[in-house]
Amino acid sequence: MECRKQQNYDVHLIEGLLSPEYSVLPAMLQERKALVVTTPTVYGHYGELLSGLIRNRGLNMQVVVLPDGETNKTLRSVERICAAALEYKLDRRSLLIGLGGGVCTDVVAMAASAIRRGIDHLRIPTTLIGLIDAGIGLKGGVNLGNKKNYFGCFNPPTHALLDRSFLETLPASFLRHGMAEILKMAPVADRHLFELCESYQTALIKSKFGVPEEVSREIIWRSSRLMLEELQKNPYESHTYQRLVDMGHAFSPALEATTDFRLHHGEAVAIDMALTVTLAESLGFMRTDERNRFIAALVQAGRPAFPFCAPELTVELCEAALDEVVYHRGGSINFPMPVEISRCVFLEKRDGLPSSVIGAALQRLSREASRQGCGALFDERS
Ligand SMILES: NC(=O)c1ccc[n+]([C@@H]2O[C@H](COP(=O)([O-])OP(=O)(O)OC[C@H]3O[C@@H](n4cnc5c(N)ncnc54)[C@H](O)[C@@H]3O)[C@@H](O)[C@H]2O)c1
Ligand SMILES: [Zn+2]
Repeated sequence: MECRKQQNYDVHLIEGLLSPEYSVLPAMLQERKALVVTTPTVYGHYGELLSGLIRNRGLNMQVVVLPDGETNKTLRSVERICAAALEYKLDRRSLLIGLGGGVCTDVVAMAASAIRRGIDHLRIPTTLIGLIDAGIGLKGGVNLGNKKNYFGCFNPPTHALLDRSFLETLPASFLRHGMAEILKMAPVADRHLFELCESYQTALIKSKFGVPEEVSREIIWRSSRLMLEELQKNPYESHTYQRLVDMGHAFSPALEATTDFRLHHGEAVAIDMALTVTLAESLGFMRTDERNRFIAALVQAGRPAFPFCAPELTVELCEAALDEVVYHRGGSINFPMPVEISRCVFLEKRDGLPSSVIGAALQRLSREASRQGCGALFDERS
C-alpha cells in the first residue's frame, strides 16, 4: 500500500481583503460554506467590515469568536470550533478560515485536521508573527498545560492570504514581538534582511508597518519567502532535524511556559536569540562585533523595555530546555549556532553547550541588561 498525499498551497500578498469591492475571498470560496474563526480583539476591529463583506457578496459564511491568548491555545478551543462546525453543518467540501494571530491560526489548523478527518482551511494572519511565520507554514498546535504545542499536526492550508493592512491596529508591543521572529532569520540566513531591519525597524514599528512602504512590503515578503524556502526543503521535518528556523526556539518554549505565558512567544524568542549569540561568541563561533551588532538590533526592536534577559532564565531551565530539544530533534540538539550574521553551523552534541558557559553567558546578559536599564520585563504593554 502506498498512501502519500501530495499537496500544494499558495501564499498571496494582497490588499483589501475585507473590502466588498476588491476582496479575493468570494472568488476563492466560490459556493463553499465557510466558518470564520477569530478572536474578540480582531472581531472588535474588523467584525463590521467582515459582516459587510458577507452581506454584500452573499457569502455562505458564519463567524465564531473564540477567547484570545496563549492560555486558550488548548484542546478546549479545538472542541469549540468542532462544535460550531457541527452546528453550522459544515460538510467535507466546507472550509475553516482562521482570521487572527498565531494562536488563532494554530488552533484552526488543528480543528481543520480533525473535523470529518480533515477539511480545508485558509489562514488570514493579522499579526506580524502571523504574516511572516505562523500564518504561512504547515503546522498547527495546541498546548497541554504549559507544554507548548504538545498536540500538533502538519496541516497545510489551501491558501494563506497576507494583507499587511491588519497591522494598522496591532499594538506596538506585538509588532516588536514580530520583529524578533523576523530577526531570527538574519543571523542564520540573510544579511540584507538584517540591514533592512537595522535601518528601518524603528520607523516601521512607529508607523505600524506603514512607512517606508516599499521597505515594509520588502521585509514582509522577504521574511515570508525565506521561511517558505526553508520549509520547502523539509516540509514534514522528515528529512532532517537541522532547521535554520529553529534559531531562537531552543530555550524559548521553556521560558514561555515557566512564566505561565506572561512572556509572549516573540519576547521569549528575542531572549533566546540574545543568549544564543552570546554562547556563539563565548564558544568562539561568532566575532564579538557581529554578536554586539545583533544584540543592538534586538535592543532597538524591543525599545523601550527590551527583555533580553529574564530572571526566570536560569542555568537549570536552559539545561532542561536542551534536554527537551534532544527529544524533539531526533536525539541530538541540532542547535543552529550563528557564525556571522547570515551564516550558521549546527551543533549536534548536547555537551557542546556546557553549563559553565551557559551560566557565564546568562550573567553577562544580565549585567548588560541592567546597564541598559532594561531589567523590567513585563512593564511595557503599549
Ligand atoms: N504554526 C507555526 O508555524 C507558528 C510559528 C510561529 C509562532 N506560532 C505560534 O503563534 C503564537 C504567537 O502568535 P502571535 O504573535 O500572532 O500572537 P497572538 O495570536 O496571541 O496575537 C497577539 C494578540 O494580538 C491580537 N491581535 C491579532 N491581530 C490583531 C490586529 N490586527 N489588531 C489588533 N490586535 C490584534 C490578538 O487577538 C492577541 O491578543 C504562539 O502560540 C506561537 O507558538 C506558530
Ligand atoms: Zn516562533
